[in-house]
Amino acid sequence: MAHATDTSTGTTRRDFLMLATGAAGAVAIGAAVIPLVSQLAPDAQTVAAGAPIDVDLAPVAEGQAIKLFWRGKLIFVRHRTKKEIEEAKAVDVATLRDPQTDEQRTKAGHEQFLIIYGNCTHLGCVPLGNAPGDPKGDFDGWFCPCHGSHYDSSGRIRKGPAPLNLPVPPYAFNGDTKIKIG
Ligand code: FES
Repeated sequence: MAHATDTSTGTTRRDFLMLATGAAGAVAIGAAVIPLVSQLAPDAQTVAAGAPIDVDLAPVAEGQAIKLFWRGKLIFVRHRTKKEIEEAKAVDVATLRDPQTDEQRTKAGHEQFLIIYGNCTHLGCVPLGNAPGDPKGDFDGWFCPCHGSHYDSSGRIRKGPAPLNLPVPPYAFNGDTKIKIG
């Protein structure tokens, strides 16, 4: 009888330890997520000063996009899919209104990330194409609903009234996923 009670108590204690370990793990994961998210949003003082900003793109999964602000200007960052990259590279540059290769608009070794200003070069509207379900236009990029400009998956103007590609801001990679804008 005493043996049965001891076994029962032992089991209970082991269960508690497993639960306690699980809870500690959850806290650790929670703590890890918060810095990742906060790294996407530079602090207000840095933004206000117009200084370069550091952003870790690790949380931006393939097919996702984020918006940033630097010096008061909207910036899009898209982690492009293989299909989007292939489409961007396959274009005959001579046919473009604002001829630029995809290589001129991305960094070697980091072609999956496209980083561009986020205001249409026609009259400044914000093109759609970042959120899931957004229209991406006829070229897998962005669609400006104001007057119907279509940008491709390299942010180049392909159709509609906009005269120029979405410009690439000054930036550099400091690692596989870390960039400094400015
Ligand atoms: S502002 Fe984008 S098409 Fe006119």
